[in-house]
Amino acid sequence: MKILVPLDGSKNAEKALIQACDLAKNYRASLTLLYVIEKAAPFNLLDRKEYHKMVRKFGDKVLKKAKETAEKRGIDPKIVMKQGNVVNEIVKLAKKENSNLIMVGNKGLGKTARFFLGSVSGKLANNSPCSILIVK
Ligand SMILES: Nc1ncnc2c1ncn2[C@@H]1O[C@H](COP(=O)(O)OP(=O)(O)OP(=O)(O)O)[C@@H](O)[C@H]1O
Ligand SMILES: [Mg+2]
Repeated sequence: MKILVPLDGSKNAEKALIQACDLAKNYRASLTLLYVIEKAAPFNLLDRKEYHKMVRKFGDKVLKKAKETAEKRGIDPKIVMKQGNVVNEIVKLAKKENSNLIMVGNKGLGKTARFFLGSVSGKLANNSPCSILIVK
């Protein structure tokens, strides 16, 4: 079994990660952790470069911390960083890796407080190529 856990640095995603570690351990599954650098808003080129540098640094931190969390639980995860549309990149990687399960948080760092699902988890529920577990 192959589990893909997309992370955005939020508490919700961390919760999904911890549950994914439990599953991975029990099912002897492999774990892939993914951070997607969202496409930049239409800044000028210099600002866009600056923005990407910043977000990449944040993504490195998120993945490093998540890797440690997994290792503490006896899992050695694969780490992937991509750039582009978040949902597209998650779907693409799940297809490429033949993931059996995607585990995400129901929400993330965004401000869609009124909704049960964020835009990424909501769109994934509709577009995922494999089973998806939305952790609440
Ligand atoms: N950039 C990202 N890279 C990887 N995974 C992500 C990313 N953004 C969100 N996710 C995953 O999707 C889950 C749900 O986050 P989502 O972005 O849908 O909620 P939100 O941030 O509250 O809402 P919105 O982004 O629509 O304002 C997160 O817990 C995380 O697992
Ligand atoms: Mg979000």
